[in-house]
Amino acid sequence: MHVQQIKMTPNGPEMSRLAIGFWRLMEWNYTPAQIVDFVEQALELGITTTDHASIYGGYQCEKAFGAALRHAPDLRARIQIITKCGIETMCEAKPQNELGHYDTRREVIIETAEKSLQNFGTDFIDLLLIHRPDPLFDADAVSAAFSQLKKDGKVLHFGVSNFAPWQFDLLQSRLDFPLITNQVEISPLEFNVMHDGTLDQCQQHRIVPQAWSPFARGGLFTGTEAQAQRVRAECEKIAQEIGATGIDQVAIAWLLKHPAKIQPVLGSGKISRIKSAANACSLELNQQQWFRIWVASKGHGVP
Ligand SMILES: NC(=O)c1ccc[n+]([C@@H]2O[C@H](COP(=O)([O-])OP(=O)(O)OC[C@H]3O[C@@H](n4cnc5c(N)ncnc54)[C@H](OP(=O)(O)O)[C@@H]3O)[C@@H](O)[C@H]2O)c1
Repeated sequence: MHVQQIKMTPNGPEMSRLAIGFWRLMEWNYTPAQIVDFVEQALELGITTTDHASIYGGYQCEKAFGAALRHAPDLRARIQIITKCGIETMCEAKPQNELGHYDTRREVIIETAEKSLQNFGTDFIDLLLIHRPDPLFDADAVSAAFSQLKKDGKVLHFGVSNFAPWQFDLLQSRLDFPLITNQVEISPLEFNVMHDGTLDQCQQHRIVPQAWSPFARGGLFTGTEAQAQRVRAECEKIAQEIGATGIDQVAIAWLLKHPAKIQPVLGSGKISRIKSAANACSLELNQQQWFRIWVASKGHGVP
């Protein structure tokens, strides 16, 4: 199955229907050549979009991915790089941080994006997201940073992550170009955004929401709590009914059925699991199968 490209907004850039996240990259222990091989195999499946953040792996993941791009310089032009800014964490790389906190000041956004460019060894980032809403969020300052980065050609497009609809609206009100995504947690175990206005807003603005942890950080497969057990059992039955090879494919089909055109951000470093998710793009759930998972997850029927 070749994963299709989708437009993130009607006049916006194209990205692949599935993306791969590199949050766990340091756990994979891949050499630069192995990262290149992994990305090349994903490209063969049609997956062109990669998701990163300044803080991933204690600020090491962007550099490790950049080492792979330096190893295979022709790769950069064939992928999209999404990265995120706005969080400071306590770790070895930041001994000056006494605690984790948000920081979305204008100069910090610009400095972080410039550091990301340096880490990746690239001239531009395709999509920069504010990682989380900041209680000290100054919409004018963030807008000024975004506009400067856009004007300098350092970042092509902008979005947010984990934003409530009103926080998205506030930032959008200060920009003269559209935010192109809100990256939020969505899986069969966690889908509040379907009910709190977040995905409605994405439809309203015709922007593609990105789903982080589409398998609930692996909890779909290994969770021992009652909710995970119910959802797993229902997904196993549905897998038989639709000819899916596993519950991972049912979960992907469940996300893709949503009319907001959710773009799942896969977290596995195993190409066989990425391939399995890619093959799920052709699977369809009917209305009852979709709601059986909703009901299993909630533990009650629809009102
Ligand atoms: N914006 C945000 O605030 C935010 C927050 C969290 C994550 N993210 C993004 O979302 C991406 C995905 O998050 P995630 O890693 O939590 O995604 P996930 O796909 O929900 O979970 C990945 C975990 O599940 C395991 N797994 C995946 N497929 C499996 C399968 N078929 N069978 C058994 N285990 C399986 C993986 O293990 P293996 O590696 O061994 O396959 C890995 O440990 C991240 O890389 C990051 O880019 C963004």
